[in-house]
Amino acid sequence: MYVLGIETSCDETAVAIYHSEQGLINHNLHSQVDMHSEYGGVVPELASRDHIRKLAPLIKQLMQESRLSSADINGIAYTAGPGLMGALLVGATTARSLAWAWKIPAVAVHHMEGHLLAPMLEENPPEFPFVALLISGGHTLLIQVKGIGRYQLLGESLDDAAGEAFDKTAKMLGLGYPGGPKLSALAEHGTPQIKFPRPMTDRPGLDFSFSGLKTFTLNTFNASKKTEQDQADIAAGFQQAVAETLSIKCKRALQQTGLKRLVVAGGVSANKQIRAALTEMTAKEQAQIYFPRLEFCTDNGAMIAYAGCQRLMAGQQQGLEIFARPRWPISELSQTTD
Ligand code: KG4
Ligand code: ZN
Repeated sequence: MYVLGIETSCDETAVAIYHSEQGLINHNLHSQVDMHSEYGGVVPELASRDHIRKLAPLIKQLMQESRLSSADINGIAYTAGPGLMGALLVGATTARSLAWAWKIPAVAVHHMEGHLLAPMLEENPPEFPFVALLISGGHTLLIQVKGIGRYQLLGESLDDAAGEAFDKTAKMLGLGYPGGPKLSALAEHGTPQIKFPRPMTDRPGLDFSFSGLKTFTLNTFNASKKTEQDQADIAAGFQQAVAETLSIKCKRALQQTGLKRLVVAGGVSANKQIRAALTEMTAKEQAQIYFPRLEFCTDNGAMIAYAGCQRLMAGQQQGLEIFARPRWPISELSQTTD
C-alpha cells in the first residue's frame, strides 16, 4: 500500500510517500524559517498562505521523482492537529480533495503520534511497549505506549513546552528565530558558571515546568555584563538544566513503569546535549534508547505517511468532512489493535 503523507501543522510544508512493505519511498520539505525569521517567530496567516503556495507543487514533484502516478497511491494521510488552524486546513482540504478525486481513503493523523512513531522509520525500530518522551515546540509529553493509539499519559508540561522554552530563552538572549538550534549552537562555546534550577525534580511526579527556568535565565542574563561569553555560558547553563531535567524525569518514568525502552522524538530531540544526557541515563538504567534520524526529529512528512499507513492498514479512515483540530489530546486517539 502506497500512502502519501502531508504535514502542514506549523511552519514546514512536508510531504512523503511510504509503502507498507517497502518502507519510506521518498520525502520532501519546504521550510518557512526564512520567511518567519524576519518577524522573530511564526506568523500564522503567512504560514497558511505559504502552505497554499508550496503544497501542490511539492506533491507533484515528489510523485514525479518517485515515478509514481495518482493511480499508484492507495491512501492519503494528513496532519489534522494539533497545530495552527489555518495551516492545518490547507493540508486537510488538499488531502481530502485529492482522496476524493483519486477515489482513495484519507486518514487524519495526530501530529504528536507522527513524532512518536518517527523512530519506526529507522533500521532498528523499538518494539512495544515503551516510554516515549515527546519534546516539540508546542508539547512536552511523557507517555507509556503499549501500541498504536494505546497511550497512557504519564506527565506533561504545565506551562511552556521544552521547544517553546528554548525559543523564548533564545529570544531573550537576542538570538532570534528559530531559537532552539541557535541557542544550542551558542551553548557549545559556553560553560555553565552557575547552577540553573532543575524544575520539579525535587518532588515526585512526572510533569514538567520550564517557565521558571526561563525567568531564571533572563534574570541571570540581566545581572551579567551581557558579553558574548556571558551569553554562551548562560545558554550552556540553560541547555544543561533542560537536558538534566528531562533525563531525571525519563529515568523516573522507566523505573515507575518497569519498562526498558525509551523513545525520544520531536524537534528538541535533535539537540545533541539532550541526546547525550538521555543516552547516558538509559545506559546506566540498562535500557534501550531510540531516536529518529535528525531530519525526522523536526516536522516532516515521512512520520505522517508512516502513522497514516498504520491506521489505514487497520481499516481506519475519515469520512468526507474536512477534519482539522487545533487542540487534540493524544489520549483521545483510538487504538489499532486490542
Ligand atoms: O517538532 P517540531 O519541529 O515542531 C513542533 O511540533 O513544534 O519542534 C520544533 C521545536 C522548536 O521549538 C525548535 O526550537 C526546537 O524544536 N528545536 C530544538 C533544536 N532543533 C529544533 N531545540 C533545541 N535544540 C535543537 N537542536
Ligand atoms: Zn512537530
